Amino acid sequence: MSVIELNMSSESFSTDRKDSWKQSWLLFGFTFVAFAVYSILVVAYDFKDGVRGVVPGADYQSPFYGPDLTGYLSNWPVSLPFALLTLWAPFGFRGTCYYMRRVYYRSVFNSPPGCAVEGFEGRRGKYSGETKFPFFLNNYHKYFLYVAIILGIFHWYELILVVTYNGLYIGVGTIFAFLDALFLTLYISSCHAFRNIFGGSSKRPSKFKYNIWSFISGLNEKHGIFFWLSLFSIWVYDLYIRLVAWGYLTEVRFV
Ligand code: FES
Repeated sequence: MSVIELNMSSESFSTDRKDSWKQSWLLFGFTFVAFAVYSILVVAYDFKDGVRGVVPGADYQSPFYGPDLTGYLSNWPVSLPFALLTLWAPFGFRGTCYYMRRVYYRSVFNSPPGCAVEGFEGRRGKYSGETKFPFFLNNYHKYFLYVAIILGIFHWYELILVVTYNGLYIGVGTIFAFLDALFLTLYISSCHAFRNIFGGSSKRPSKFKYNIWSFISGLNEKHGIFFWLSLFSIWVYDLYIRLVAWGYLTEVRFV
């Protein structure tokens, strides 16, 4: 086996890597920051536009606002966005995701920007593990997973509400609602902690458990892809609802 020696300099971003690591570093960083800014805008400025009923004739609700708790909270202050009630769960789940950690440690904190790439000089030696706020929350990923599983079920329930609205309803937005539920399910079921539930801690798992574990392991290899697909499907679905509600797009109904 041949060994490649990397003679690293200590300057920030120095590396002997010859591949295109910077493209993915830039792309992931840009997308991550853009989604974070969009989410903050959803919460801060656009209070109720994502809530059920903004698309005439259809029953869409932004995935940022699910599950729909508005009916149970008639006393919720009008100045506060409903998204505050629910967003902690998907944000907690995604923020503590192993794949997501890789994205923000590399592309946002540059700590380090990539394998065999030197990080910021000022940050060297400052890594404190996951012991300080908010990073110690990463240790609770499996608990966020349990909440996310419930959330995933609600996304399918939302889809049923959309499709059964006034009898039967299928429009362009329904496709986005379906993709949202599908990709979220794939993202959750390919999670490392989810795989661990099925045999991760067993020395001799049953055949049934082992088969499930093998299936999830196959999904797990594509976890990064499902992460992005799920993120984009939520983003696009929310944006679509808003553009229709604001009159920039017209919903097309098929059925
Ligand atoms: S590791 Fe990514 S969601 Fe669990």
